[in-house]
Amino acid sequence: MLAGKRILLIVGGGIAAYKSLDLIRRLRERGAAVVPVLTAAGAQFVTPLSVSALAGAPVHADLFDLTAEAEMGHIQLSRSADLVVVAPATADLMAKMAGGLAGDLAATLLMATDKRVLIAPAMNVRMWEHPACRRNLERLRADGVLTVGPNAGDMACGEHGPGRMAEPLEIVAAIEAAIGARPLAGRRVLVTSGPTHEPIDPVRYIANRSSGAQGTAVARALARLGAQVVFVTGPAEVAPPEGVEVVRVETAQQMSDAVDAALPVDAGVFAAAVADWRVARASDRKLKKSRDGLPVLEFAENPDILRRVSQMREGRPGLVVGFAAETDDVIAHATAKRARKGCDWIVANDVSPATGIMGGSENAVVLISGDGAEEWPRMGKDEVARRLAERIAAVLGG
Ligand code: CTP
Repeated sequence: MLAGKRILLIVGGGIAAYKSLDLIRRLRERGAAVVPVLTAAGAQFVTPLSVSALAGAPVHADLFDLTAEAEMGHIQLSRSADLVVVAPATADLMAKMAGGLAGDLAATLLMATDKRVLIAPAMNVRMWEHPACRRNLERLRADGVLTVGPNAGDMACGEHGPGRMAEPLEIVAAIEAAIGARPLAGRRVLVTSGPTHEPIDPVRYIANRSSGAQGTAVARALARLGAQVVFVTGPAEVAPPEGVEVVRVETAQQMSDAVDAALPVDAGVFAAAVADWRVARASDRKLKKSRDGLPVLEFAENPDILRRVSQMREGRPGLVVGFAAETDDVIAHATAKRARKGCDWIVANDVSPATGIMGGSENAVVLISGDGAEEWPRMGKDEVARRLAERIAAVLGG
């Protein structure tokens, strides 16, 4: 997947530096050449020897190293890579990058490079949330720097929250996406999206507030990673993405049939807000208010598409991802939902009106998997989609 690619990897000074050793291994397994740079702080956490042994290449550490300058100047070093990756990107390194400092080798390379830069931030949660760090992050994003993570969870310092460096396979997936590798090439993925409309009569229907934005963003992100995407969508507000096979449906039953027709797939992402009930006997004539007084609607249960697919004995996709829209006790409800439906992951979000998530452009999600609950910081729906697609690539992408 990364054969022939050269990654300049800057290892900063944080406890997460140990994960960068695994990252080097994973990159090399995929055929990439890793050119390692270790900051002075980084060398407090991992030794130059282990970095260089795993990379199969000498470590660069010193800006004023005469031998290294004679062999390959630091400017050239910064340009000979396909991508510059900073992992862990400490608060200090991020501040240097945002401020344009160039006082040591790592900072100089970051200033001198003409290649894209991907950072994997890792720091204490208070540092991550500090206004200075927020400013720097905004600055870096505006400069076109790509980010992966941080994830939320227990931290080495004993606190809890966002700040843990992304896992090596997530960083690999982000690297693949950044250099246009298509880790999901040859993989077929199904995405359901949007609301369903359940007819009452030919002009009236029961619907919900889903805009289809999150499902559409997921389909787009998966397609960008090379997946062949079948996009089964209800009547959504947002247009379907380019480059996917679009199947338009209206009702839950039609969505269920379209999903069956799309199988087999390597992964299924069920982002649609499917109506749980339909009107048992939809009228084929418009109901008239004068004729028989108030209508009484009787309901029938719709097929639970996610549960059915999750529990298939034969032909179950290798990875089944559901969504859970909750208004309270998000983690508890979503964890129970994952078990009830039998899917592998649940992407849960709080859709209480105060959050502005339903119909809005941002999302704050918790990813529930067999490993527990992982809270993602609030971010754009496109960013949630990108991260989810990279996660899926980390599982399917071999
Ligand atoms: N889903 C589905 N088919 C349905 C209902 C839901 O495939 N008929 C999928 C959704 O696409 C989503 C997940 O199931 O991925 C969560 O749906 P939700 O309606 O929130 O779950 P419910 O089982 O209805 O649970 P509850 O009513 O307790 O919230």
